[in-house]
Amino acid sequence: MPDTLTKLAYQTVQQGKSYFGLVHKAVSTQLLNIVAPAPAETKPKPTPLSLELIQNIQRRMNEILETDWQDVEKGVYPASLLFDNPWDDFFRYYPAVWFDMPEMWQRVNQKRYQEFDPGVETQGLPSYYVQNFHHQTNGYLSDESANLYDLQVEILFNGTADPMRRRILAPLKAGLKAFGDVPASQIKILDVACGTGRTLKNIRGMLPKASLYGVDLSAAYLRKANQLLSQVPGTLPQLVQGNGEELPFLENYFHAVTSVFLFHELPPQARQNVIDEAFRVVKPGGTFIICDSIQMADSPELSIAMENFPEIFHEPYYRHYTTDDLTKRLTDAGFTEVFEQVHFMSKYLIAKKPIEARPEAPSFATGIAID
Ligand SMILES: C[S@@+](CC[C@H](N)C(=O)[O-])C[C@H]1O[C@@H](n2cnc3c(N)ncnc32)[C@H](O)[C@@H]1O
Repeated sequence: MPDTLTKLAYQTVQQGKSYFGLVHKAVSTQLLNIVAPAPAETKPKPTPLSLELIQNIQRRMNEILETDWQDVEKGVYPASLLFDNPWDDFFRYYPAVWFDMPEMWQRVNQKRYQEFDPGVETQGLPSYYVQNFHHQTNGYLSDESANLYDLQVEILFNGTADPMRRRILAPLKAGLKAFGDVPASQIKILDVACGTGRTLKNIRGMLPKASLYGVDLSAAYLRKANQLLSQVPGTLPQLVQGNGEELPFLENYFHAVTSVFLFHELPPQARQNVIDEAFRVVKPGGTFIICDSIQMADSPELSIAMENFPEIFHEPYYRHYTTDDLTKRLTDAGFTEVFEQVHFMSKYLIAKKPIEARPEAPSFATGIAID
């Protein structure tokens, strides 16, 4: 039974991560202004956050940590997940986050947003994807980028990236109840745009026996995911390089499909295509869960933070994303029972593929349908 001491330990670690993220951002911003001040005309002009807004963000952060803890207490997943931090990577790659900065600042100042080293293969990838998202050196297309990604996301969200990812776990578990008669090892779950595998690792913590699958366009990020996930005892998730818009899987194959922090990096039509594909591959009665940034309609009080985000980071599709009607996209694809939730800086859309969407089963001449 999780106890007060465990909760205190979790809160303390999270507080430490939060302070670390804040200090890192403050120091790097100061350094940027001294070492590589941007020419006045190119400098992004983020609106300063008011004290009220900062307090609002802090409150939301405390709430998500409390929800994370509550889900442990309810037995949704084990407390060990709360302490699963990639410390090895932190000590190994944190210096590289700093070493990467001068080159990154140069690109930012010169507005070079689609720059890749000569050895990086970009052919065959969708053009919207060939970007230095977050000003990341080589975008998503190098092992160095994959090594730094999780640290950078942790710093950006002051240590709450995994608590945000874990908010998909309770609805995922609830959705799988529709398949209560299926043995645990035969439950199949796909994570679209699995990146370095942190969502799959969290799902594995909750469902030790399920067959997990991950798909992502980046071979480098999949290699990193493979390193992370092969440390976990039990079955190894199947990781496939592919486009979420054309999933390389049979229809009605998965009991659930998830996707975390992908949609804000897609142009509108690609968002719809991924949703359509998720609908195709999930079984009737199965669940599709999206986790991504908050949007204007659900969090208008954080509109300044949402306006600043693409100003500071290179996120070319974010602005459109913040006003996109994802519920409509989901229902257009055929999903029903679409529920929305908001936790900290993320929103969640939980959608069901209706049972009636089950295709006509093949039948024998006797007229008896087989399933
Ligand atoms: C912001 S990262 C999120 C990664 C991971 N889901 C997480 O929680 O950290 C976006 C990921 O989406 C992948 N991606 C972007 N467009 C994609 C597409 N059309 N198909 C598959 N993966 C895509 C990128 O390679 C990257 O790994």
